Amino acid sequence: MKIRILLISLIVFVGFAATSQNKIVINTDLGKETISKHIYGHFSEHLGRCIYGGYWVGEDSDIPNTAGLRNDVVGALKEIGIPNLRWPGGCFADEYHWMDGIGARNERPTMINTHWGGVTENNNFGTHEFLELCNQLDCEPVICGNLGSGTIQEMSQWVEYLNSNNVSPMTDLRKANGQEEPWGVKYWGVGNENWGCGGNMTAEYYANEMRRYGTFTKNYGENRLYKVAGGPNGADYHWMETLMKDGNPGRSFQGISLHYYTICHDWNKKGSATVFDESEYFNTMKQTLFMDELLEKHIRIMDKYDPRNRVGLIVDEWGNWHDVEPGTNPGFLYQQNTLRDALVASVNLDLFNKYARRVKMTNIAQTVNVLQAMILTKDDQIVRTPSFYVFKMYKVHHDATLLPSDISTEKYSLGDESVPALSATASKDANGKIHVTITNLNPGKSLEVSCDLRGLEKVNFEKGSIVTGDKINSYNDFDKNEEISLSAFNDVKVTGNKVLVKIPSKSVVMLELK
Ligand code: AHR
Repeated sequence: MKIRILLISLIVFVGFAATSQNKIVINTDLGKETISKHIYGHFSEHLGRCIYGGYWVGEDSDIPNTAGLRNDVVGALKEIGIPNLRWPGGCFADEYHWMDGIGARNERPTMINTHWGGVTENNNFGTHEFLELCNQLDCEPVICGNLGSGTIQEMSQWVEYLNSNNVSPMTDLRKANGQEEPWGVKYWGVGNENWGCGGNMTAEYYANEMRRYGTFTKNYGENRLYKVAGGPNGADYHWMETLMKDGNPGRSFQGISLHYYTICHDWNKKGSATVFDESEYFNTMKQTLFMDELLEKHIRIMDKYDPRNRVGLIVDEWGNWHDVEPGTNPGFLYQQNTLRDALVASVNLDLFNKYARRVKMTNIAQTVNVLQAMILTKDDQIVRTPSFYVFKMYKVHHDATLLPSDISTEKYSLGDESVPALSATASKDANGKIHVTITNLNPGKSLEVSCDLRGLEKVNFEKGSIVTGDKINSYNDFDKNEEISLSAFNDVKVTGNKVLVKIPSKSVVMLELK
């Protein structure tokens, strides 16, 4: 009898411990930072089939298009509320000469895209086409200028061409090419990866270049440029320190970039996008969670030199980088996208939200047909990837107030390693609705999570949604029904200000509360 009682107590205790271990205290009354919608930005380079075939098919194509841009791709990206698009690279940016991409298309010079497959770039998609794309997407353009192989004159003339309404040679040229009004481009990258493909510079050399280029990229009219300095590669804290110390932050530049890609194994053998086991899944999660440490350490350096928080951290390249799909051009970086990618997206977005005080923009690489894409295209078909659905779900956080949250989570362990099983963001929108997104990284166990909305007496559950799949490597493909999408989720119990929710294994869930 005694043993039975003991056993029952043990079961109750273990059950309670499991529940209480997974708890999110949401401080509903302490929010002060806005989660910039630009955290949900994207990046598209002249690389593989991202621009050509991805967006651009030309006016004469049989694929339905508006001014040469695919209607299906533009329509899908509008579903996720794409807030900005970074272009033209990437490594391509520091080889790109913008004047080759304006004027009559059939007269534009060609070039070799040396980084990406050595293909001939015909420059049919240039400044006007990119800004037409942003216009159709209703998003902010983010243009990355050529510091590596260009000149200051070339970069300053590009800014003048885009933004000036004075009587000037570049304004006249723009008007002659059919654009009467200046576009008023705000976000301006000053080179890309200048520690590598953008010129193999030292931090000290680049800091000086940034000051010079910063001086000659001018503001026109009311428009104020938000210049993004080429920042560090992953954990290169020396680069960050040098730029923040010597690059004239806040005056020469308003943002500094950070690039970090998640790679399951290593650069020589990254691993398949679709064929992987649990240890590779686990490793991907471990690698991606390194973003937390990166943000924390880079922000600490930024705080030292910029205590007034004037300079934004701009993570303008991130995401999963797998081996290319078998049989595709290795220089085109075409990869499939599974539930694992979706969870990598949600975990990183939670981290960017967490550091919203400093992180003002991020751009996942690279939107269509390249790396961790939102959309894949094949002729006249498109596929919405699992990552697409996470971005669609997270629209609720765009420009919402971050609600600081304390997350207690059990571990997801494999062998003798472990990572936190849960990741989450809570925010409050302009209508007072609270949205909580919670990811359960554990592929083999659903988790009961108690959300405590501190500062409120009572909440109502309004609706929920979920992105999940049968397997960690489930994916959507052409000519078959979607395996992963966004569906309704209701496994929620509310008592007063406490919400008890059961998060299925390997899933991300969104709760709307009021
Ligand atoms: O996104 C692919 C490449 O990765 C970019 O061109 C470059 O900036 C980075 O190394």
